[in-house]
Amino acid sequence: MSLFKDILSSEESVFKNEVALDFSFQPKIVPYRESQQRVIADCIKPLCVKRNGKNILIHGPPGVGKTVAIKQVLKELGEEIDDVQILYVNCWQKNTTFKIFVHLCEQLEYPHTQNKGSEELFKVVKNVVNKESAVFVFDEVDKVEDMDFLYSILEEVFRKSIILITNYPSWLQKLEQRIVSRINLQQLAFEHYTLPETKVILQQRLKYAFHEDAVEPGVLDLIAEKTFASKDMRVGVTLLREAGMLAEERASRTVAVEDVSKALESKLDLDSTASMADDLLILLELVKEYPGLKMGELFEQYTAGGGNAAYRTFARKINKLGDTGQVVLEKISGGADGSTTLVRLPAEKKLTEF
Ligand SMILES: Nc1ncnc2c1ncn2[C@@H]1O[C@H](COP(=O)(O)OP(=O)(O)OP(=O)(O)O)[C@@H](O)[C@H]1O
Ligand SMILES: [Mg+2]
Repeated sequence: MSLFKDILSSEESVFKNEVALDFSFQPKIVPYRESQQRVIADCIKPLCVKRNGKNILIHGPPGVGKTVAIKQVLKELGEEIDDVQILYVNCWQKNTTFKIFVHLCEQLEYPHTQNKGSEELFKVVKNVVNKESAVFVFDEVDKVEDMDFLYSILEEVFRKSIILITNYPSWLQKLEQRIVSRINLQQLAFEHYTLPETKVILQQRLKYAFHEDAVEPGVLDLIAEKTFASKDMRVGVTLLREAGMLAEERASRTVAVEDVSKALESKLDLDSTASMADDLLILLELVKEYPGLKMGELFEQYTAGGGNAAYRTFARKINKLGDTGQVVLEKISGGADGSTTLVRLPAEKKLTEF
């Protein structure tokens, strides 16, 4: 048998640089986010002339370029300015004050973090950054369990710009008063891309990732259309990669529209792409924030927080969380509203169980 005889050699592969299809790939330019990048840069600029910077809350739905845009700003800042410390934390991974301080120490190249508590770690951070000035970015900040880190920075770092990023502008309402009264946050919304914008962004990605002429006409249009419908740029990046892989599987040197159709078919619907996983996590966070609500009430919180899926899609996703045991769905029939479903967290006990 020659199971592997159809494998293409790397020169024959449709991909020139598959890494460009990683979500974390940083393109040289980030189209359609220039105006937002300018607003962010304006918050940071005072630091370059030894004044205090401004603080900003960036919000918008998943996959609209918040992270990629901020990283580009930080990269340029690092290239052009020497005496500003640039500190970036993804709070999904570092979700407590302690973990955040350890991570900040690591970025400041302070190696002796073992056996130290939050206070000692913060002292290290403070001593370094107060020698110059610092930009702190806390991406996915709504995932942090406690806000002590923010209070410490606000109180004890002199020249700084704090940039917070979240999917939920309503998260702000949960901030403690002691922080709200100190932080003075400007707000900046990232909106969905239009269809032509989506196409240009994916075209750029395609050029990075594929050999010239390796993608047939029509592929980009179809992927852009599906991406626009999903409103999440990650869907487009995933489809580009999967269509490329399917083309390779059939030992073709070009990606055809049929590869995209097949990629779409194998997904049944776009919900099962990476954006679905992200959506589910966001919804799970929402349930954690508002446990025990009726499905309809939870949907109201979801829309108030900037969510834009239709109720049916929303309910389907919540049901998926129920299927996997991440939330508990309790059907109640015969109430004033007819039958309804309560969405609880697994650990949350019903009143009758106490
Ligand atoms: N304007 C753009 N130019 C180039 N690539 C983009 C642009 N917008 C989004 N992307 C790409 O789409 C993907 C998702 O973008 P990004 O990670 O910035 O989304 P996000 O808004 O931070 O989403 P989330 O809220 O889920 O973190 C990334 O791979 C990113 O490179
Ligand atoms: Mg992001």
